[in-house]
Amino acid sequence: MAEDQQERQARPVPEDVRERMRFLTHELDRHNYLYHTLDAPEISDELFDAMFHELAALEEAWPELRSPWSPTLRAGGRLLDGLPKKPHRLKMYSLDNVFSQREWNDFLEKMRRAYQGFGPFEEGFYCDPKLDGLAVELVYEQGVLTEAMTRGDGEIGEVITEACRTIATIPLKLRGEQSMPELLEVRGEVVMFKKDFAALNADQKAKNKKVFANPRNAAAGSLRQLDVAVARSRKLTFLAYSLGACNWQPEQACTSQTELMQRLADYGFLTPPNGRFCADSQQVMDYAEWVRTNREEFPMEIDGCVVKLDRLEAQRQLGFTARAPRFAVAFKFPALKVATLLKNIEIQVGRTGVLTPVAVLEPVAVGGVVVSRATLHNEDEIKAKDIRIGDTVWVQRAGDVIPEIVGPVLAERGSEVLPYVFPDKCPVCASPVYREPGQAALRCENLACPAIRLRSVLHFVSKAGLDIPGFGEKWVEQLVQSGRVRDPADLLTLTVPEFLQFKRMGETLAAKLVAALADACANTSLERLISALGIRHVGTETARTLAMHYHDLEKLSLAREEELLTLRDVGPEVALSVRHFFSTPANVELLAKLRRAGLWPVQTAKATAVEQTSAFAGKTVLFTGTLSISRSEAQKAAEAAGATVLAGVSKKLDYLIVGQKPGSKLAKAQALGVTVLSEEAFFALLKN
Ligand code: IVH
Repeated sequence: MAEDQQERQARPVPEDVRERMRFLTHELDRHNYLYHTLDAPEISDELFDAMFHELAALEEAWPELRSPWSPTLRAGGRLLDGLPKKPHRLKMYSLDNVFSQREWNDFLEKMRRAYQGFGPFEEGFYCDPKLDGLAVELVYEQGVLTEAMTRGDGEIGEVITEACRTIATIPLKLRGEQSMPELLEVRGEVVMFKKDFAALNADQKAKNKKVFANPRNAAAGSLRQLDVAVARSRKLTFLAYSLGACNWQPEQACTSQTELMQRLADYGFLTPPNGRFCADSQQVMDYAEWVRTNREEFPMEIDGCVVKLDRLEAQRQLGFTARAPRFAVAFKFPALKVATLLKNIEIQVGRTGVLTPVAVLEPVAVGGVVVSRATLHNEDEIKAKDIRIGDTVWVQRAGDVIPEIVGPVLAERGSEVLPYVFPDKCPVCASPVYREPGQAALRCENLACPAIRLRSVLHFVSKAGLDIPGFGEKWVEQLVQSGRVRDPADLLTLTVPEFLQFKRMGETLAAKLVAALADACANTSLERLISALGIRHVGTETARTLAMHYHDLEKLSLAREEELLTLRDVGPEVALSVRHFFSTPANVELLAKLRRAGLWPVQTAKATAVEQTSAFAGKTVLFTGTLSISRSEAQKAAEAAGATVLAGVSKKLDYLIVGQKPGSKLAKAQALGVTVLSEEAFFALLKN
């Protein structure tokens, strides 16, 4: 072999071969740059391939003429045995983070203080997006790429020269005619664009191969491949943002980060998109906000922006702490989507018996808040997303929206992680659970289930119910657990001595609680009580309608479905649920207990003087046509005067109130002999 080479070197090189190889090397390099970095190709792929193969063949025949930056070096195909390690000439630092304008102001203040003694501190920053990839250092000697390294631990990196040569946006030779520095280390990030990541994962999936959790992992996994052919097959992009060691001539040196970014672009590098100079702190904050709102539009994943003092001399003067530069900081956005471990799935039983699965997570910060639990809604949701205990899952939170589990990170699922099996028994009382046809929810049907009892009592005292002060979850839990309180009515008969039997309960508090219960008995309105009962589908609005119409619980409990259906806000689901509630024996018993305890409000008795003297007290009304005020305002006015608003025209209707362009209700009402009022007459009567 050595002999063979000697022989070859000895032979004379035809000048036209040398010239042709030089030409092909230059042309291929130029077209590579036009295609990958500038995204502006000038020739067809076929012509490029033809030239490439011609050069490869010539290099095969004349290896001694191969240029150290030949495009054929990008081909890869060599298998490495373990990545060699090597120290960086200059340490590769990390960056400190700030998460808010206040923290940024603090950092700026620190920078100012650190600068004292060097001269007047100049604001003026270069800002660009913070790329979420793999930091890499490229070593150029006399303008030719000789080595590439990962960041490693900052001091020692892994040599990944061959893999980096396959990245089309890494110049194998710096562009430009000017003389090249003897040594120039260019630092930047290797990323995988979101579209390339999606394509890679789709392909991996189709081939039944490992899918990657995110573009950064895909980029890192591809680069650190020992088989360079794999790195070559993955579409990676390098973007340059700073320098390591460099010894260019004084006249070659840049004076600002802005200038350096232009120089890097001139050398043939891509730089992070939308980087710009910001003259002052306000512009930096505006820029950070702009990047945050446009985050999704970037072709690669970014997780903030990086703010650097623009003047390189000032950067040098401020220098570094042990970890990070004093002249630059990462202005990070709170992550909106974070991966974390799903430690368990707990089943909560609500007051209506619905079993709700809740994800118990390894706590993570998402969008600025720490999330440790999130609802999984129901069995179908868990199945559809194939979420399993032990999975790493994506947790997402947008704005003020409650956090949600997006799905599992399949790439990180261990083989021991098994599909989740939803319980077929209530986890609290062990009764079999029941699924209503067409509904996603599974329910415990056992009204004596302690969980249902606890939730019903909690609802009864909550703001949506009677709003009784002092009854926090801890107390109610103890009361229910002791067996003394089995339903909300049991609360009302509690006495001071009974309260005193509970741990950490004192005389004063016990007296307060008893007084609060007495106050609730005396002053609760019927609509509040109906809402407090926690009848399914009956919220505060419907409770109000029911109270207005029925005046006491007894009448309501006897109401037939067809009758309920004539009321506003009462559809078939609500009517059925109301009927179901009042025909359940436990609830009949509950009503009797409430009455005995003295909690039995009657709507008419509590009606205000206005209602009693009003023409609409106890009457039913309905509106049709366009009114001069909104429909809901008119309904409220009628209700305030003691009327009940019905859902449709029937014999039960006392008044139909007609605005402009009345609908078919008018004819129907007239046919039934219902009194028809104009809007003006309605308002006139309201005033009386
Ligand atoms: S400038 C001394 N600019 O983020 C470091 N770094 O988390 C100055 N990074 O180690 C580097 N995007 O590798 C700079 N636009 C950007 C960047 C960026 C990502 C990396 C960098 C650093 C890491 C810190």
